[in-house]
Amino acid sequence: MKIANRTFIISGGASGLGLATAHDLHAHGAYVSLLDLNADAGSDIVSSLGPRAKFFEVDVSDTDAIAAAIAGTVAWVKETGKPIGGVVAGAGVGLPGLIIDKKNEPLSISSIDFVLNVNLRGTLDLIRQALPHMTTVQPEGPDGERGVIIMVASSAAFDGQMGQVAYAASKGAVASLTLPLARDLSKYGIRAVTIAPALFESSMTKMISPKVKQSLEKAMEFPKRAGHAEEFARTVRDSIENGMLNGTIIRLDGAMRMPARL
Ligand SMILES: NC(=O)c1ccc[n+]([C@@H]2O[C@H](COP(=O)([O-])OP(=O)(O)OC[C@H]3O[C@@H](n4cnc5c(N)ncnc54)[C@H](O)[C@@H]3O)[C@@H](O)[C@H]2O)c1
Repeated sequence: MKIANRTFIISGGASGLGLATAHDLHAHGAYVSLLDLNADAGSDIVSSLGPRAKFFEVDVSDTDAIAAAIAGTVAWVKETGKPIGGVVAGAGVGLPGLIIDKKNEPLSISSIDFVLNVNLRGTLDLIRQALPHMTTVQPEGPDGERGVIIMVASSAAFDGQMGQVAYAASKGAVASLTLPLARDLSKYGIRAVTIAPALFESSMTKMISPKVKQSLEKAMEFPKRAGHAEEFARTVRDSIENGMLNGTIIRLDGAMRMPARL
């Protein structure tokens, strides 16, 4: 799947891994439609990227907000003539909490709902609403490709730590839906790939204390450091360009297997 002169919808595109992806795809000639809660960052990014970028203020747990952003992107595509080539569903949140705490209080259902609504429902809803505009594009190349869906799981999908039940459930679900999504979409020439990063530099991980970060890095095999957002972005780029990547989960983790606790 070509990147240049295609439009990519990137949720969570105003920070961290989504932003690095936006920069990378844009540098390779893509048009980027960024969906994020953070409107200030979004408009700064669009002014720095110029006319091949658009920003939509969206909470991905709000179906109507996604619908408005998709409609805006489709209208933009009509103006530019650069068809949608893919979705990168990067918006995500973490809200740690033990399933039962020291005071014998169970994890609040509101914190479980919050994480599942953004990371799982928001991912599926964005994909669901973008697809009708991808299945109808002109197929490209010898394989007749129409586009790529890229989702973001986490090491927590496989070895979630204490306090990560909701986050691990959301990311495990994203990992699990990758294959059936690829199967549903194969007849349209649309692929589905999930990337599962371990610890990467981003706003999300800036909040981790240096002590916790150090102990996470210690659990890594090689290299013993947090990944750079650009290393995530290049994996997105390869997932778009490499037609054999489909229905799979790419662990991007320096061979790290997270221990139960730090
Ligand atoms: N950084 C890591 O170590 C790491 C590891 C594994 C997985 N991930 C996953 O990577 C993805 C990107 O995270 P990041 O590390 O770049 O974090 P980040 O906080 O830097 O970026 C996340 C972006 O998503 C946006 N966002 C959050 N909730 C939203 C919502 N409801 N609607 C729209 N936008 C919303 C935020 O405003 C932010 O711009 C997330 O899904 C995260 O779970 C990150």
